[in-house]
Amino acid sequence: MLPRSAVRLLRNLRDRVRLSRISRHTFDSAQLRLKSDHFLEPIFSDDTIEAKWTADHGAIRSVFGEVDRFGGVNPGDRRAVYYLICGLEPEKVLEVGTHIGASTLYLARALKAGGDHGSITTVDLFDVNDPATGAWKQRGLELSPQGYADRLDCQDRIKFVARPALDFMIETDEKFGLVFLDGDHSAQAVYREVSAALPLLAPGGLILLHDYYPNGRPLFPDNGVITGPYQALRRITAENPEISVLPLGDLPWPTKQGVHTTSLALVFRSGI
Ligand SMILES: C[S@@+](CC[C@H](N)C(=O)[O-])C[C@H]1O[C@@H](n2cnc3c(N)ncnc32)[C@H](O)[C@@H]1O
Repeated sequence: MLPRSAVRLLRNLRDRVRLSRISRHTFDSAQLRLKSDHFLEPIFSDDTIEAKWTADHGAIRSVFGEVDRFGGVNPGDRRAVYYLICGLEPEKVLEVGTHIGASTLYLARALKAGGDHGSITTVDLFDVNDPATGAWKQRGLELSPQGYADRLDCQDRIKFVARPALDFMIETDEKFGLVFLDGDHSAQAVYREVSAALPLLAPGGLILLHDYYPNGRPLFPDNGVITGPYQALRRITAENPEISVLPLGDLPWPTKQGVHTTSLALVFRSGI
């Protein structure tokens, strides 16, 4: 058994080597939102958003629960994505990585709270609603993501797509105000997905990353690290200085393991 730090080092190295084998991609940042100071504070401290979240969170928790298990994003991050949707008001959201639908439900209810039009397309390698392939069944959840969406009356806001994210992104001609990347966390996949996601952005759109560990360092007490998204963005920002990453850092509410830290990060245009 290797110590955790050694495993981390080896993973880092493997990610770097695999990433270095990919040819340089194009990163078209024309539609990306320009980075502004104090962008997040007004959103995370907005009383109107908090009131919407309190109502929707109560409804979601009553059917979906709030447990931080099964591989879905943690409860604090679900709250953060909900606030971001309410604050940014994108018309369309693309989510990569549906899994049990934890983030999907919060995204969909936030879009619904914003009015009649918002919708989310959520893509996964597997048919997440089929009992044979859906993580919900394997993890012992009562319902599929579609089943929970039906119960929460937001099924009309969600389009489920079962196919590799890159294939979907390359073929779709839809535009999205927010692209949430929470699928394959390897450095090479994130590098390719960011390249493919940028041309899909509506004007002023943003890319939201999950599992971004700045400098490849641990964020949570368990000392675990996923290095891929950081490695990918390190290369992307080195090759494209006009692109920058904002780790969301500490949220005003707890996330997991007794801390307020999040691995969520936003990709902006830095204006250089
Ligand atoms: C960490 S889970 C996502 C968690 C989810 N956001 C939630 O809150 O329940 C990652 C998911 O990404 C999916 N995935 C992995 N690689 C993918 C790819 N290339 N394209 C689409 N989905 C992918 C996996 O099947 C898995 O369901």
